[in-house]
Amino acid sequence: MSGIDILGTGCYVPEYTLSNDELSTMVDTSDEWIYPRTGIKNRHISKTENTSELARIAAERAIADSGVSKEDIGFIIVATCSADHIMPSVSCMLQKLLDLPEHVMAFDMNAACTGFVYAMSIANAMLATRPDRLALVIGAEVFSKMLDYTDRSTCILFGDGAGAVVARHNPRGALQEAIFSRGDADASHIYIPGVPFAGRQEPPYCKMSGQDVFKFAVEAPIQSMKQILADLDCTIADMDYVLFHQANARIIASICKRLKIKDAQLYCNIEEYGNTSAASIPIMLDEMNRKGLLKKGHKLLLVGFGAGLTWGTLYMEW
Ligand code: UT7
Repeated sequence: MSGIDILGTGCYVPEYTLSNDELSTMVDTSDEWIYPRTGIKNRHISKTENTSELARIAAERAIADSGVSKEDIGFIIVATCSADHIMPSVSCMLQKLLDLPEHVMAFDMNAACTGFVYAMSIANAMLATRPDRLALVIGAEVFSKMLDYTDRSTCILFGDGAGAVVARHNPRGALQEAIFSRGDADASHIYIPGVPFAGRQEPPYCKMSGQDVFKFAVEAPIQSMKQILADLDCTIADMDYVLFHQANARIIASICKRLKIKDAQLYCNIEEYGNTSAASIPIMLDEMNRKGLLKKGHKLLLVGFGAGLTWGTLYMEW
């Protein structure tokens, strides 16, 4: 098995914080309803910055943390479902904004809230073909711009942010993934409208069947986690940290109870950021890195799940 080393991390969230109490002045809700059902107290909301701006700052921090030369970056992968434009991609914009060399392959990919797990899997494969180059892998979202703030079932959940890592191929490393999708062809679980057709344009708002997504989210990640553990011939107790996409604290608690994951194996920050979609896992990685929680050789599971439907678990060693 080969894998990747993460050489540096960075994240950025907008300054403005929207609390449950402030939300309850905008829509018929309350902290008493939101917090026990979701674990969310605040979310950071962009006022003027779009996804490329959040991603730029997170990426600059990751590059600075890694201490690498920009010339060595060969791939930029931005996991997002809230790109500034359909084209140019956020990653192409970043190539210019960060003054990266023209030899980079830059592209966005959309696997919704599983985006960072998919992107790391792609980066691992691409780095194996070009071990002399580095990958800049980013999850970045301004989900708040796609919410209907009169719909209390969705607007309470999401926030904005970006996280980034700089990764290098490690021939003696260990990275493995169990990744899945189950096409929600009628977009009945969670969706955001895309390309407008003449005479048929829906508002660009996220719509979701919360209970259906909840049922999916407490089951599907368990499948991918069990598969990874079986492939590695490990148990969950062998893992130092399990980083779940931060969608809902009750979803995480339900999975932890069933798989006997201990509190000490978890890192969560949903209370402060809400669900930042593809950005949630790299934001956690950066926070943990800056707090010194991640030690060389630590075994990590990154667990994503979201629209598509998509889900997956990625095993890596720090
Ligand atoms: O990355 C994946 C993204 N998506 C998710 O993670 C969503 C997963 N689903 C969930 O987290 C939960 O389904 C929600 C938090 C969205 C909703 O919780 P729930 O316990 O499934 O509530 P519900 O939809 O069954 O609604 C129960 C009641 C309803 O009122 P009635 O019909 O019983 O009178 C809703 O209208 O709660 C009401 N309600 C609210 N009340 C106050 C729904 N949202 C709110 C709200 N504030 N924000």
